Amino acid sequence: FDVPALKNEPVKSYAPGSPERAEIKKALAEARSKTIEIPQYIGSEEVYSQNKQKVAPPHDHQHVLGYFHEGTKEDVGKAIDAALEARKNWATLTWEQRAAIFLKAAELIAGPYRAEMNAATMLGQSKNAYQAEIDSACEIIDFLRLNVNFMRDIYEEQPISSEGVWNRMEYRPLEGFIFAITPFNFTAIAGNLPAAPALMGNVVIWKPAFTQVYAANVIMKVFKEAGLPDGVINMVLVDGPVAGDVIFKHPDFSGVHFTGSTKVFQTIWKTIGENIAAYKTFPRIVGETGGKDFVLAHRSADAKAVATGLVRGAFEYQGQKCSAASRAYIPSNLWEAVKGFMLADLAEIKMGGVEDFSNFVNAVIDEKSFDKIVSYIDGAKSSADTEIVAGGNFDKSKGYFVEPTVIQAFKPDYVTLCEEIFGPVLTIFVYDENEFEQIIPVIDATSPYALTGAVFSKDRYAIEYATRHLVNAAGNFYINDKPTGAVVGQQPFGGARASGTNDKAGSVLNLLRWVSPRAIKETL
Ligand code: NAD
Ligand code: ALA
Repeated sequence: FDVPALKNEPVKSYAPGSPERAEIKKALAEARSKTIEIPQYIGSEEVYSQNKQKVAPPHDHQHVLGYFHEGTKEDVGKAIDAALEARKNWATLTWEQRAAIFLKAAELIAGPYRAEMNAATMLGQSKNAYQAEIDSACEIIDFLRLNVNFMRDIYEEQPISSEGVWNRMEYRPLEGFIFAITPFNFTAIAGNLPAAPALMGNVVIWKPAFTQVYAANVIMKVFKEAGLPDGVINMVLVDGPVAGDVIFKHPDFSGVHFTGSTKVFQTIWKTIGENIAAYKTFPRIVGETGGKDFVLAHRSADAKAVATGLVRGAFEYQGQKCSAASRAYIPSNLWEAVKGFMLADLAEIKMGGVEDFSNFVNAVIDEKSFDKIVSYIDGAKSSADTEIVAGGNFDKSKGYFVEPTVIQAFKPDYVTLCEEIFGPVLTIFVYDENEFEQIIPVIDATSPYALTGAVFSKDRYAIEYATRHLVNAAGNFYINDKPTGAVVGQQPFGGARASGTNDKAGSVLNLLRWVSPRAIKETL
């Protein structure tokens, strides 16, 4: 069996005149020219309902891309039955048989579905072509391919045997079904959260975010075309608490694979705890949650590199990455230079729809998100503890547009230095250049999250000091680089504290959560 090498899918450039640009333009035009119906996928059925919800591009909210068919708690019950039925066969297949299906899915996305996947992500989630390519093409392909490699490693790792004794380890799928709950911001996460447990022999109920269903529908089409048997992954389009009310009370519930906000994960954990006596087996609880990701510059840092890292880290995909740089600690000797480079870059940045490839910034996901982001900006505008350094404007008449905004806060515990905003808002705190060691505990203490962080410095002492003293402040730590853009197989991704269980999506650590090992001793 041909297990793929540990190699990442190359990123296409979408440069003017490139064949991929022509293809994606065609796919965008085609998608915009029609309205589609998005069903639930339960067992062998595509389930349509009377409760249709509009799907619109966040940057052009009056345009209708289609309708998704919202389901009910009864549909969730049917999906559980379909999953448990499918498990009878799926859990008995060899790992090679399961791998072949997900590798085929990766090939479909790399080839014939690439433009459709990217166009769906661009339109449904308002991502520019590059941000879509690294997500709904490269990252999902990497998850699908490299997880097969990691799975092989798990099965090959066997215990010591001795003369007359054959010891072996069996990695059984969990008994029951898994609930995969996915966020709006990454199509790759939406694909990986149901696919990783299924690859390990489990059956899954998958609930995508309603704001990501347009691309989620393409993922389901790909899984089906790749030969995934009916019922192994069931996509339900049901409100989270409604689905949870059925799933978290079911005796066969055996694990949750979640990515989303800290608050929702806390609710889920609590509900599981309340129902713990109802389950046949202790469920696995895996969750990647929020972030308040920092950039710390030392007085020796390159001001231009810091500014570029901040502009890209904070404003790519409108700051709606869990990894986004949202707070920065800049030494007093560098601030004027960093500010100057940032303002120059920001003056070049264009904002608008994804159809115009010169737009670096597009819209935020929906009105609720827009209103939340704007409330933080308005708060900063009226506060005596801050100054707006750049941006600060917004407009939701056509799309949910928020200008990249830089706030300087004069107090290290100002609200936008502590809370996750999930939008294009970066807050700067300028510290005394001689107080590098003193600012580190402030960074550590002012936010409950610990997802990503970065230090910029040319001084080895400062790099080592920050790495050691911020040891628990980030699950992904960057030295002289922005804190976003982790690549599967290169920087396994996840954080601790309020940022999640840190099970590192796309790694052996994550896949091990979806199996229950059995040690067998045979006396020969
Ligand atoms: P969200 O928490 O609002 O929603 C996530 C998912 O949970 C959605 O599918 C939603 O419908 C569902 N949900 C909501 N309430 C539920 C309930 N009571 N029971 C079951 N499911 C429920 O998050 P979002 O706005 O889609 O995504 C943004 C958040 O995700 C941010 O906080 C971001 O930091 C986080 N995120 C984290 C990572 C990571 O790897 N750490 C990656 C991406 C996003
Ligand atoms: N993998 C994404 C990043 O690192 C979340 O930005």
